[in-house]
Amino acid sequence: MKEMNITTHIKVYNTTEELPTEDYELSKKATAALEDSYSPYSKFQVAAAIRFTDGTMIAGSNQENASYPLCLCAERVVMSAAAALYPGKPIEAMAITVKSKKRPISEPVSPCGACRQSIREEEIKLKHPIKLILFGEQGQVYVLNSGKDLLPLSFDPSFLE
Ligand code: THU
Repeated sequence: MKEMNITTHIKVYNTTEELPTEDYELSKKATAALEDSYSPYSKFQVAAAIRFTDGTMIAGSNQENASYPLCLCAERVVMSAAAALYPGKPIEAMAITVKSKKRPISEPVSPCGACRQSIREEEIKLKHPIKLILFGEQGQVYVLNSGKDLLPLSFDPSFLE
C-alpha cells in the first residue's frame, strides 16, 4: 500500500478589486448578472460570467422551475450559451458569484459537482484550461487555474475509449 496526496492550488484575494483588471471586469459582469437569476424557490441567486480568449464576455444565472429537478445552475446556463452563440471559441476564465435572500454570503461560492464535471468537459472539448474566480457578496476571492483544481480525478472521456 502507498498513499497519495492530491494538492490544489488556490490564489486568495481579499476583495475582487485586488484582481487583475480583466478578472475584476469579469467579476463585475457576474455580479450584474445576479439580477437575472430566476430563483423564487431557493432564493439563492447564482451568476457566472465567461471571458473567451479574445476578450468577449457573456454571463448567465440560475434558472429554477417549480418542478425542482429542472433547475439549471448558472455555470451550465452560461456554458450552454457559450456553446450556442460562440461554438468552438475557447473559454479563458469564468467568474462565479452568489447572493442569498436568507443571509449575506461572505465565503466564495463552491460550484456543485455536476458543474465541476461540466467545466472539465468544456476544458477538454476546447483544449483550454478555464481560470475560475469564485466569490460571495463579500469576503475573500478564490482563483483556481483550472477545473482540474476543483475536481481532481474527474471522469474523463478517455475512459470511454
Ligand atoms: N446553483 C447554481 O446555480 N450553481 C451551483 O453550482 C450550485 C447551485 C443553483 C441551483 C439552484 O437554483 C440554487 O442554486 C440552489 O441550489
